[in-house]
Amino acid sequence: MVQKVPKVKLSSGHEMPIVGLGTYARKADPAQYRQGVEWGIEAGYRHIDTASSYNNEVYVGEGINNKIKDGTVTRDQLFVTTKLWNNCHAESDVVPSLKDSLARLKLDYVDLYLVHWPVSVNANGGDADIDYLETWRGMEEAVKLGLAKSIGVSNFNEQQLERLIKAANIKPVCNQFEINPTLTQHKLVDFCKKLSVVPVAYTPLGLISEARPEFNGLDAIKTDARLGDIAQKYGKTRAQIALKYLLQRDIVVVPKSFTKSRIAENLELFDFELTQDEMTIVDGFNINHRCVPANAFSSFKNYPF
Ligand SMILES: NC(=O)c1ccc[n+]([C@@H]2O[C@H](COP(=O)([O-])OP(=O)(O)OC[C@H]3O[C@@H](n4cnc5c(N)ncnc54)[C@H](OP(=O)(O)O)[C@@H]3O)[C@@H](O)[C@H]2O)c1
Repeated sequence: MVQKVPKVKLSSGHEMPIVGLGTYARKADPAQYRQGVEWGIEAGYRHIDTASSYNNEVYVGEGINNKIKDGTVTRDQLFVTTKLWNNCHAESDVVPSLKDSLARLKLDYVDLYLVHWPVSVNANGGDADIDYLETWRGMEEAVKLGLAKSIGVSNFNEQQLERLIKAANIKPVCNQFEINPTLTQHKLVDFCKKLSVVPVAYTPLGLISEARPEFNGLDAIKTDARLGDIAQKYGKTRAQIALKYLLQRDIVVVPKSFTKSRIAENLELFDFELTQDEMTIVDGFNINHRCVPANAFSSFKNYPF
């Protein structure tokens, strides 16, 4: 069954489907990316999340274009996001970097271009210490040129987001950061909403995901009976309960799967509603644990965590 996914209105006036397909994989072959995207679009995903640093834009673009060519979707029905990597934060590097992404994706524009991190990296891998306000001027140029319909940020903290919004001519429509039941992020989510910045959850499955190894007994969420009971009550999986918990907090989610059954599973979220008590139970798993601490940047001036 093809799922119809609701959309949220962005401050740019454009609309973003509230469930997107993540595409990051530490290791995958071209066919897996292509196939994952094709299965996603067939299942009803209309929002695809990639990044130049994922080194998969060519294959993600092939999947997208295959589904446009075979008539499953039109380009304007899709919402495609890619991200500027940290080594291209100089204002003059932003538009060329987006053009490179578009050439790999074989698309004329993206729906959303994100500054992947507030940190910038120099040719030696060290801190380039470029102010993200400078980077943002390049992002605004991308909108003016029609290469990106909307622009936003990722991994920005409250101070960084507030400073950016004060200086920006075109406001960031969203902040994409890690949010899941073991990293609930209430403060930053509320802050974003106050500024009309849509919170987008990456790694939304957190420690429920099979990709996360067991560590230090932090993974009670995989076995906890209360969560099992909630899942059973609705005929859903723990993963679906985690995603629904985020959606009911008005957070957009971009779960990644290249497994056909899970791609479909992660979209089957619109035929049940968690009660307030159940939301409180899921919320209670918070241990402020980051799956993506980005330790490589921890000594950089603009490290956000
Ligand atoms: N902006 C950023 O800095 C940033 C950082 C991290 C991620 N992201 C984006 O967010 C997306 C999602 O984050 P993520 O990939 O780190 O984590 P995730 O979506 O929370 O989890 C993905 C992992 O969970 C497995 N999985 C998927 N559905 C499942 C289900 N229903 N039950 C059990 N396991 C399931 C997947 O395996 P299979 O594929 O084998 O099914 C995959 O290994 C990324 O792909 C990327 O697009 C952005």
